[in-house]
Amino acid sequence: MKDHLIVFDTTLRDGEQSPGASMTKEEKVRIAKQLEKLRVDVIEAGFPAASQGDFDSVHAVASAVKESTICGLARAVENDIRKAGEAIKPANSGRIHTFIATSPIHMEKKLRMTPDEVVERAVWAVKRARDFTDDVEFSPEDAGRSDVDFLCRVIEAAINAGATTINIPDTVGYSMPHQFGSLFKELIERIPNSDKAIFSAHCHNDLGLAVANSLSAVRNGARQVECTLNGLGERAGNTALEEMVMAIKTRQDVFDVDTRINTKEILAASRLVSNITGFAVQPNKAIVGANAFAHESGIHQDGVLKHRETYEIMRAEDVGWSTNKMVMGKHSGRNAFKTRLEELGMVFETEQELNDVFVRFKELADRKHEIYDEDLQSLITDNSNQRVENEIYRLIALKVSTETGEASKAEVTLWVEGKELYAMAEGGGVVDATFKAIESLVKSGASLELYSVSNVTNGTDSLGETSVRLEKGGRIANGQGSDTDIVLSSAKAYINALNKICGNSVKKHPQASV
Ligand code: KIV
Ligand code: ZN
Repeated sequence: MKDHLIVFDTTLRDGEQSPGASMTKEEKVRIAKQLEKLRVDVIEAGFPAASQGDFDSVHAVASAVKESTICGLARAVENDIRKAGEAIKPANSGRIHTFIATSPIHMEKKLRMTPDEVVERAVWAVKRARDFTDDVEFSPEDAGRSDVDFLCRVIEAAINAGATTINIPDTVGYSMPHQFGSLFKELIERIPNSDKAIFSAHCHNDLGLAVANSLSAVRNGARQVECTLNGLGERAGNTALEEMVMAIKTRQDVFDVDTRINTKEILAASRLVSNITGFAVQPNKAIVGANAFAHESGIHQDGVLKHRETYEIMRAEDVGWSTNKMVMGKHSGRNAFKTRLEELGMVFETEQELNDVFVRFKELADRKHEIYDEDLQSLITDNSNQRVENEIYRLIALKVSTETGEASKAEVTLWVEGKELYAMAEGGGVVDATFKAIESLVKSGASLELYSVSNVTNGTDSLGETSVRLEKGGRIANGQGSDTDIVLSSAKAYINALNKICGNSVKKHPQASV
């Protein structure tokens, strides 16, 4: 019997700390529900003390998700712990994750606290968190650069105070795999009460070693790993969930642990996060990149056809890649549509939700004759047609024209807080003209940081998924749009981002000094 490796997903917290990856409450709930489908054990839903929006998001996730434990992050201070405790209240199973830095550089320069004060505060924080829940995780931040004797001291005290999980963060991604593994071995061997807590690895990818370090920790006693989808996270990101899970599954010969992850949901989860944040997945990204299972060279193709395992160590279907077969068309009925979605793991809570998607499917089928699984997935994950909270702008109509040797033109009609407004603009191309026309009505002053379009399937009638990132006064918002017409898809994404940037609030960063 293998040990259970707890998968702790922090896409909604550490992932969201990635500049430009901030998400709305609705987006966080959608990702959390997909994480639940993935059978992630713990979802770190945010840092409730960061802002009212973060608090509401954690609370909403705790209310919506039933199967996974919902965790809120808190610095070792009263306000953070109380807010985290209140935010996770609706959860069936709730956890508080409290942390304080333990490396000499962080204690001296950031916290301006002595090691004795840090131990005292850690003990206080764990005890205070236990007033809200029995499930308390403690992290000595920057453990990778902390003194091992001091780590032993603070961790022993935290466990005595009631911490049930001890997370060892390599906060700056400095560790080497052999060192990080030895650190776990030494901590577990030396700390007298180490058997009273689960040890967890939390790695950053600054040297590209987050997954390797996490795997080394597991080989040396870690029984929880903290990861994010697509490796999203600050700077170079965190341990990629999909790589970690598939390494453990594929190499059961070297690991004495297994996860409960439903790997068939990995690709859908990866796409959802990429779509919502606007962070594209590189084609050669392991597991979820477009080329991860593509065999380009003749020798490889020949080998795979003769015997799949000559070049494939995993089955593409096991992580959710389909065979791209045509599934539906405009004559497909509601039942066939529902059945196919269920086969793809997409289940709706209400009839209304299913009806809305079916209407969008019919509209798509009128414009695109062959509907593939990827189209269905895009249709479900596209949120540009959904009202965002406090919606200010909505596209009513768009007309564009382009002619060789002439400037492109766009005519836009927008719904702006109850009024219909019209504008016309010229630009270097139809998308440029459309954005200029919209901006002339909205006057947001936001600058365009990113614009990207990718086709969901092959062919010129493919759905185009567009991501737009806007920046205004240091705030960033991502918008998404999807349509077979890439100009419409672009306009939807731009308006989606404008609605968000106009409602964004300022957040605290958890790792800033208290
Ligand atoms: O990287 C880090 O140290 C963290 C802590 C808050 C656990 O994210
Ligand atoms: Zn981190």
